[in-house]
Amino acid sequence: MIRTLLAACLAVATVLADTPPAWAQDEAAVQDTDIDALLARMTLDEKIGQLVQRMGGRSKSLNSRLGPEELDKVRRGEVGSYLHVAGAEPLRELQRVAVEESRLGIPLLFSMDVVHGYRTIFPVPLAMAASWDPDAAERHARIAAREASAAGLHWTFAPMVDIARDPRWGRIVEGAGEDPYLGSRMAAAQVRGFQGDDLAEADTIIAGTKHFGAYGAAEGGRDYAGADVGERTLRETYLAPFRAAAEAGTASYMTAFNAVDGVPTTGNAALLRTTLREEWGWNGLLLSDWRAVEELMAHGVAGSREDAARLALEASVDMDMVADVYALDLKRAIETDPGLIPLLDQAVRRVLETKRKLGLFEDPYQYHDIAREAEVILSDLHRRAAREIAQESIVLLKNEGNVLPLAKDAKRIALVGALADDALSQLGSWRAQGRAEDVVTLRAALEAAHSDVVFASGTDTRADDVQGLPEAVAAAEGADLVVLALGEDFDWSGEARSRSSLELPGRQRELFEALAATGKPLVVVLMGGRPLAIPEVAERADAVLQTWLLGIEAGPAIVATLFGESNPGGKLPASFPRATGQVPVNYDHLPSGRPADPDPSKDTARYMDQPITPLYAFGHGLSYTSFDYGEIVVDKNEIPAAGGSLTLTIPVTNSGPVRGDEVVQLYMRDPVASVSRPVMQLRGFRRVGLRAGETNILTFTLESEQFALWAAEGGWKVEPGEIELMVGAASDDIRQRVTVRISGETAGTIAPAAIETLSTVSAGVEP
Ligand code: NOJ
Repeated sequence: MIRTLLAACLAVATVLADTPPAWAQDEAAVQDTDIDALLARMTLDEKIGQLVQRMGGRSKSLNSRLGPEELDKVRRGEVGSYLHVAGAEPLRELQRVAVEESRLGIPLLFSMDVVHGYRTIFPVPLAMAASWDPDAAERHARIAAREASAAGLHWTFAPMVDIARDPRWGRIVEGAGEDPYLGSRMAAAQVRGFQGDDLAEADTIIAGTKHFGAYGAAEGGRDYAGADVGERTLRETYLAPFRAAAEAGTASYMTAFNAVDGVPTTGNAALLRTTLREEWGWNGLLLSDWRAVEELMAHGVAGSREDAARLALEASVDMDMVADVYALDLKRAIETDPGLIPLLDQAVRRVLETKRKLGLFEDPYQYHDIAREAEVILSDLHRRAAREIAQESIVLLKNEGNVLPLAKDAKRIALVGALADDALSQLGSWRAQGRAEDVVTLRAALEAAHSDVVFASGTDTRADDVQGLPEAVAAAEGADLVVLALGEDFDWSGEARSRSSLELPGRQRELFEALAATGKPLVVVLMGGRPLAIPEVAERADAVLQTWLLGIEAGPAIVATLFGESNPGGKLPASFPRATGQVPVNYDHLPSGRPADPDPSKDTARYMDQPITPLYAFGHGLSYTSFDYGEIVVDKNEIPAAGGSLTLTIPVTNSGPVRGDEVVQLYMRDPVASVSRPVMQLRGFRRVGLRAGETNILTFTLESEQFALWAAEGGWKVEPGEIELMVGAASDDIRQRVTVRISGETAGTIAPAAIETLSTVSAGVEP
């Protein structure tokens, strides 16, 4: 059975052949005799023990389960890893028990969801993606790794790289939004940040890129629901950021809960063993999600726990997160089918290899340094980085009549909205060891920065409660300007937080209408972890700042932006719909035979009751200054499909009054191909800071492989013909276009969105 399975996998791999990255080929060459020797000494029970991940506590009560019985399990070699644990000192003791009191002394792996910071909490990942600054994402991950490793951790379950095109899905907050190219850059940057150059260093941790493969495509945006995507969409869109993470060297992945085309991922040998391992040549540690091995029964593909264990092992899942299916039922599966033993050995070897890469066999205690823990966690340096990245993540959606920035000598400001005073929410849904007391709220920061602020909470963000409305209206009427915080608190987005409506929750819309009716200048600060459908806010507010959930420095970052000390330069990583029923409204949709036409009397691909555009398009974001784009120059009008490359140059000028950042975006379109191609696809971007009047020349270098498509017959293919290149400030604000030609045809190797477009910036003509 297994042999047949492997043979089938190999056969498919040969046909589809995604080339393994160079690093994977090197890894394969390494023969580790120590690990061979260790494996040879292990009993079946000890081997299975290495594949078991247990919880040391719950995410909000870490270490709480590490009692005497648990320690006995460690002594007997029944545990390979713990999650929801932390602390240099307690984890040193736990490690000591494993290393000194178990027969083989194999160290444990300690893990946690450190998704956007450990104690220094950064903006939620969707917000960080709005910075369009991979360096910022890398910097955040480096700091998170420094703090987490100081607290005894080896492994984070991040980055979360699931592409999300349906904002009803609450987990859109955890990823980089709708686009596979932006998602790939953010994925790779975070892997680099967490893992650094050498995993054996005491301040690096392994990245657990999740949730492999199409979790974000959950039907109807309902968490855990199946994904029904075609092979092309799977490869080009959903798997691309995972491939980028592999290229960046991610040492581990976590499998998704859901099924793809009816096959639950955790038992999906075609997706995991064939695509991820055989085709991509990735040989790291593959972990199931929480109880996902057991859930193979609820999915209806395993009739028993033993069956579930077999399916997961055959799919090459190395470690079972908390379900204890491997712990209790894998042995029976192996006794029934000894053909599973080589697969077991492979899995154990990968766990041991990971421990070796972390340097745990040399020094199992190097991550347990109490002095370092006290020194690095929540240091001033880290807090400063959290503020800078929070500022970079803010998106100015609207600014009519330049109501922003506020004048320094602005008179009375009415600050309204419970979210303005909600510290916990700024920590987002994965707050690791973040604490509400570390957060500087919008209210605290505004009151510190401005002498005349009147605060009124208005309504609760969830409850059916309008009691505070009169007080809020009175505050607005007595003020010169209203800053109104609206949106979702931290618990509206995240795991199992899907919504059927994308409107403002609770009675916030009434609060907005009441304040808008006062006629005072109205600045809305929109918070939360997903794009909301807020047409009335977009219409009636004077200015709208999308501030997401920004972490511990949320307040200062928002206030600096309100007063213009920081000029907003973020851009939307996901389209904002006009109404819930308009989703998905991603910018890179396929053309239709009857493309949407603004004229509703024509029969075209549109809703009768909505305009054809999103409320705010992917890539949209304004600034307190303006930017002009010069002429595109390409160094070649035609390149060969095999090994061709071209350079595109464009000058960008800050034509407004103040310094600002622009995100220059490069899109492509393949107008005629063997399969229908998206109306546009992001293929490059660069965030650039320009002084008033300054011009920079941006250069993007594209390889012909980046124009490849997943062919109807399978496999990547670069086809001959025209490619349109577009440069602009947003997907709906293209400033310049040029057409180039590809000659000949060749096979591609990996998802084009996973390939980075290199860019440079050089000084242009001074004013
Ligand atoms: C379930 C979530 O899906 C996953 O993202 C997380 O890493 C694990 N729980 C562990 O907390």
